[in-house]
Amino acid sequence: PLAATGELIAAAAAARRAVPAFNIITLEHVEAVIAGAEHVDAPVVLQVSENAVKFRYGRLLPLARAAAEAAARAAVPVALHLDHVHSDGLLRQAPGAGFSSVMYDAARLPYEQNLAVTRAAADWAHAQGLWIEAELGQVGGKNGEPPPDPHAPGARTDPGQAAAFVADSGVDALAVAVGSTHAMTTRTAALDHGLLKRLSAALDVPLVLHGSSGLPDEELKAAVAGGIAKVNIGTALNVAMTGAIRQFLAAHPEAADSRRYLGVGREAMVRTVARLITVLGDGGEH
Ligand code: G3H
Ligand code: ZN
Repeated sequence: PLAATGELIAAAAAARRAVPAFNIITLEHVEAVIAGAEHVDAPVVLQVSENAVKFRYGRLLPLARAAAEAAARAAVPVALHLDHVHSDGLLRQAPGAGFSSVMYDAARLPYEQNLAVTRAAADWAHAQGLWIEAELGQVGGKNGEPPPDPHAPGARTDPGQAAAFVADSGVDALAVAVGSTHAMTTRTAALDHGLLKRLSAALDVPLVLHGSSGLPDEELKAAVAGGIAKVNIGTALNVAMTGAIRQFLAAHPEAADSRRYLGVGREAMVRTVARLITVLGDGGEH
């Protein structure tokens, strides 16, 4: 059934678990994430990023409606989240399109501006009954940009500043920059566990990990143990889907029916979703 992100995360955080949140781009992603979650009987978040909306010719509704329809029929709780929103126009479409939560991303702005626009977004979101996540620090790596220099000021999330940011903006969760980077196709990133511990102690809202595809299993488990309550995963699905399709087409150069290779790509995503949820320790616990 369709669930609310805030409720899934509150339940997970109380049990020191994390809710996996997978980025969806195509209908095959929607079907694969739900099938993978059903295989391990665990709740899941389907998230649509502003970049994915751009890919869909700027339209949110076709993908959102497919996701909401699939969520309603799923055997596990499935929540819809609007991810990395920069534009207020897209933010305002969230409630009408079935989303219970949004991530408002103003992390690239200077602190005071990030705070001001995030507070305005949070006020609006809460008036609509939406759960809202924001980001402080630079996870980076989106849209082909190079990973941020971890030693640059403001690159990693500062615990004291983060506590003030959450109190002053009123957001429900915070995405933190603790060593992961978006869009990694190898699982070689390492987290600053000391910083994560300090952030977890300084903040009384759930922490969100972005760029989780770049982390090996042990780092993912350590992140959850360290206080991460929502784990955002996107690139791992693309790696699985594209790799499987590449292999299939190389072995079957005569193939023309798109269902053959999309089906292979979808099954690879199902396996990846089920495996990652199991790694996060969420299998069968709800
Ligand atoms: O918000 C989405 C995530 O941070 C996904 O990052 O594609 O590197 O796994 P990823
Ligand atoms: Zn992200």
